[in-house]
Amino acid sequence: MEPGRRFAGKSIIVTGGASGIGRATALRLAAEGGQVLAFDLNGDALAALADECPAIRVRTGSASDEDAVGAIVKDWAAEAGGIDVLVNMAGIIRSGHAADMSLDDFMRCVTVNLGSTFLMCRAALPYLEQARGNIVNAASTSSHFGHPFLTGYAASKGAVAAFTQSLAWEYLKRGVRVNAVAPGGIETPLAKSVQTGMVEGADWELYNHLSPINGFAPPDRIAGVIAMLASEDGAHMNGAIVRVDGGVHA
Ligand SMILES: NC(=O)c1ccc[n+]([C@@H]2O[C@H](COP(=O)([O-])OP(=O)(O)OC[C@H]3O[C@@H](n4cnc5c(N)ncnc54)[C@H](O)[C@@H]3O)[C@@H](O)[C@H]2O)c1
Repeated sequence: MEPGRRFAGKSIIVTGGASGIGRATALRLAAEGGQVLAFDLNGDALAALADECPAIRVRTGSASDEDAVGAIVKDWAAEAGGIDVLVNMAGIIRSGHAADMSLDDFMRCVTVNLGSTFLMCRAALPYLEQARGNIVNAASTSSHFGHPFLTGYAASKGAVAAFTQSLAWEYLKRGVRVNAVAPGGIETPLAKSVQTGMVEGADWELYNHLSPINGFAPPDRIAGVIAMLASEDGAHMNGAIVRVDGGVHA
């Protein structure tokens, strides 16, 4: 393993690869020699990514659609000769008063954030087991700390953390590591939408303790931690939920 080329010869899938943390991760892992497929709903943003970095392959589709996931994972494994690393960053956020929220709105976060993580892992695990590879999921500071007016989102992220730890145990003897990052305060469209799209009447005093004290950080702060977890540098990390939030919850 050459320093700075930790992913040479590795086949990688990044969901949510068109924006924010997923995009920064796709670029970072490709820069370190990885053969990267970025998978996202947003075809225009994927095309812009491919323009910026022609080495990255892109596929448009939903990571919470069972058929699309099955086809994309199978095709990529055939094209790239297997799968070594799966990074699940696709995600959405919705704000609302818990007492007013419809079951559909609540479940939307669960279906996308948790459902896509499950579907991608399920489809990729046979290849990852063969490669003795690893998975990095997107938890959140809301996996462990209350996020008022974001109950559906927080519930989905708590479940992603529990899923990550359970899968890590299940595959402990089968050579697949499973970790998650728990970001907070990363400057992306998703984080911005909380500031601009918070439900009317939300009490900001309850929410403000979650704001990063030293300001929002760029997505590559998380991409670097994901690269560590997914590389040999993270070989002794398994079932870890790694908080990267500028110290908000220190
Ligand atoms: N930004 C933060 O501070 C922060 C904090 C904690 C956790 N996270 C998590 O990190 C992950 C990345 O978030 P981000 O901040 O980079 O957001 P982002 O909005 O910049 O990127 C999310 C991407 O996921 C894609 N996506 C959404 N639903 C999809 C689906 N069904 N199939 C495929 N792609 C889909 C979107 O098109 C978008 O490109 C998310 O899971 C988010 O919950 C972010």
